[in-house]
Amino acid sequence: MRDPKRVGILISGRGSNMRALVEQACHYEVVLVVSNKPAAPGLAWARDHGIATWARDSKGMEREEFDRMVSGILEDHGIGTIALAGFMRILSPWFVRKWPGRIVNIHPSLLPRYRGLDTHARAIAAGDEASGCSVHIVTEELDAGEVLGQSQVRIDKSDTPAALEERVLEAEHRLYPIVLNQFVTR
Ligand code: GRF
Repeated sequence: MRDPKRVGILISGRGSNMRALVEQACHYEVVLVVSNKPAAPGLAWARDHGIATWARDSKGMEREEFDRMVSGILEDHGIGTIALAGFMRILSPWFVRKWPGRIVNIHPSLLPRYRGLDTHARAIAAGDEASGCSVHIVTEELDAGEVLGQSQVRIDKSDTPAALEERVLEAEHRLYPIVLNQFVTR
């Protein structure tokens, strides 16, 4: 049985959004943290906080082969909602079809603007007055699924991509848990 309130988080790195999701969980429980990078710092934090973890280096593996392994682990843990949090690997169409409407992601821009990478540099270069972050449902098209929530961050004239990234990241940590708490009960 897939229980939407049993959340699995997929990470590749430091996992600051994962941490925010764990600390601000209200209507869901983070049951499992998965990584395609066994050395991801976020994994150690999850383990220290009593959360089950699973990691395997995806390097050199066929995309779908890795995804089938991850999907099996998520099913073994009765996961009903998958939250991507800095998971730097594009999911295979097979995986997205296996979990239709049950995968969410946080993206550091005001979608539909700036899908993909380097969002902060692109927003500054375009002369935008604001950027921000979006939580959206993952579909087969990159960063294109239904937007569930957004948070705006002002861009200052003197902003660098790094400074903007830092402020957007703070907004991510507030937005993602709020949206996920709503999503699991909708
Ligand atoms: C965040 O900027 C998020 O928007 C993007 O990847 C970064 C992950 O950071 N998808 P962290 O691992 O959650 O700290």
